[in-house]
Amino acid sequence: MATVSLENMSKSYGPVAALQALDMRIGDGEFLTLLGPSGCGKSTALACIAGLEKPSGGRIVFGDRDVTRLEPHQRDIAMVFQDYALYPHMTVRENMLFGLQQQRVGRAESERQVVRAAEVLDLGRLLDRRPAELSGGQRQRVAVGRAVVRNPSVFLMDEPLSNLDASLRVRTRTEIRRLQRELGVTALFVTHDQEEAMVLSDRIAVMRGGVLQQLGRPMDVYRDPANLFVATFIGSPAMNMLEAELMLQGDTVRALVSGQTLSLPRAVTRSSWEGTRKALLGIRPSDFGITAPADAALRGRVFLVEPVGPFAYVDIDIDGWSLKGTCDPDRAPAIDDVVGLSFVAERVCLFDPETELRL
Ligand SMILES: Nc1ncnc2c1ncn2[C@@H]1O[C@H](COP(=O)(O)OP(=O)(O)OP(=O)(O)O)[C@@H](O)[C@H]1O
Ligand SMILES: [Mg+2]
Repeated sequence: MATVSLENMSKSYGPVAALQALDMRIGDGEFLTLLGPSGCGKSTALACIAGLEKPSGGRIVFGDRDVTRLEPHQRDIAMVFQDYALYPHMTVRENMLFGLQQQRVGRAESERQVVRAAEVLDLGRLLDRRPAELSGGQRQRVAVGRAVVRNPSVFLMDEPLSNLDASLRVRTRTEIRRLQRELGVTALFVTHDQEEAMVLSDRIAVMRGGVLQQLGRPMDVYRDPANLFVATFIGSPAMNMLEAELMLQGDTVRALVSGQTLSLPRAVTRSSWEGTRKALLGIRPSDFGITAPADAALRGRVFLVEPVGPFAYVDIDIDGWSLKGTCDPDRAPAIDDVVGLSFVAERVCLFDPETELRL
């Protein structure tokens, strides 16, 4: 077991700055996810931690051991790659035993660890099959099993679920999380899928263009995003954005949106400002209700209704700004209806349109 500290870590490929001044500390036994769009540096960060790439600057520390210049095999890590490579001529059992034999772990102890991992990953009945005789999801679980039986200090996973279909992804991620908890191993997981990051992680590191945007617990990042990028990247459908003019009046912020006025508690703003100012007003689809127009501070016109089953999405136009909300599918408004919007005022997030930071 180990903590992992990245201290001012950077990595450039020629002129491309893949990682810039990355600072974070992953606790012992913690499950931390690097989340961000394609090209933001997730795999590069993981490869540096694994020792497959050398950082251009900064340090990597496991526990109190500086591993920055150590070879991968000296780091006590196990890694699962997106394109997991199992040995085709070996059975599931042999694939999982292979790493242990290289580590010179005794036969009986190796067998015991393989059986335990196979049990947790539901591979017990498949131990004598070869990879060609397994489904994609089963192969992926073997790749995970092969990595965890080595009982590493740090477990690194680069999009290990990306080859699976939707339902298998959900089942396999549950198994990965359970296994990681049981073993108490420190885990770094990479994904571009925000939902996967939300459900799996103790904490999420949101990245963009090689720069860490925010590091926090899933619900904190969801409810309290540091900037516009994090706000719109986390959560699906994305947080709605409306252009607003703000005015501070005592403990109330009056937000003027398309000629209509919303009252918000002063607590939704973080910085100190006076008078009036422009802002982007963010509200998640689940954080406002659809009401009769007469009762509401904000009104708009419905232009699309999409029933999903347990709820329906409702798309509403407010003077050219579109908002996505949800409602009971049995009480959905009709297209072209004028409806009222009742905001959960304390859930509103305000952003500076220029810096894109929270106001
Ligand atoms: N060997 C390399 N040589 C040059 N540039 C590279 C190399 N590897 C990565 N890059 C660049 O570094 C940046 C980060 O790449 P990285 O693979 O870490 O992204 P990622 O977040 O893992 O993306 P994805 O979600 O697509 O896997 C990208 O701009 C990429 O083009
Ligand atoms: Mg990658």
